[in-house]
Amino acid sequence: MNTKIFAHRGASKYAPENTMPAFKLACNMNADGIETDVQLTKDNIPVLFHDEQLKRTTGTVGYVKDFTYEQLKQLDAGRWYSNEFEHITIPSLDDFLNWIKAKPLYLNIELKNYKIDYKHIESIVYDAIAYHQLLNRTTISTFNPNSIRRLRNKKDTIGVAFLTSKKYKRLVSFAEEMGANAIHIKYRLLNKRLVEESHRRNMKLRVYTVNKPARIIRSLETSVNGIITDVPDQAIHCKKII
Ligand code: G3P
Ligand code: CA
Repeated sequence: MNTKIFAHRGASKYAPENTMPAFKLACNMNADGIETDVQLTKDNIPVLFHDEQLKRTTGTVGYVKDFTYEQLKQLDAGRWYSNEFEHITIPSLDDFLNWIKAKPLYLNIELKNYKIDYKHIESIVYDAIAYHQLLNRTTISTFNPNSIRRLRNKKDTIGVAFLTSKKYKRLVSFAEEMGANAIHIKYRLLNKRLVEESHRRNMKLRVYTVNKPARIIRSLETSVNGIITDVPDQAIHCKKII
């Protein structure tokens, strides 16, 4: 199994998460792909940002959904991490797609619509990916089962991954029934039987967020399809030595 290494929010151990420096670093480290998070601004522009609230990584009080794209562009999304990244801004999905299309990278775009069910986020994001002709190397993931159901008619053209940190008795069937063709599980849910069943039923199985070398190695040895990690350089190193 050629397990693909996805840089979680970019190479987020080494640069501020979900910013262009973190994405560029992941590319320079030879990650296979990049995982990032999408939300919608007040004026319906998809932007790459993890938390629903802005405070942790910009210092500003409020929700992403209550700011226009122009307002968000004024915020500093790098200084919280270190002074070296001062003045780094929140990227739009379009900035990211424009950059990545020339790079040999897979994309995992997580819709942050579990707590806030952004209206039409599925079609807004899907159409942007289609416009940039990136459908065949993209997986859209979400914790929101209703959102997976809204994407089910797209799954012949794009990866549709159900994200979960919960234990299910019949996870593969559940994901299949809602219309997913991939499952992204939290590391503690990883077991060989689940991986084997996923492979048997043609369901991609990826695991997040795996940073410790022993866990990376176990994930590789279990033959998952992908590992989502803050440390893509270390995961690539593990791949080479096992
Ligand atoms: O996509 C895997 C992982 O990113 C999901 O959790 O909170 O890091 O977005 P979170
Ligand atoms: Ca994510």
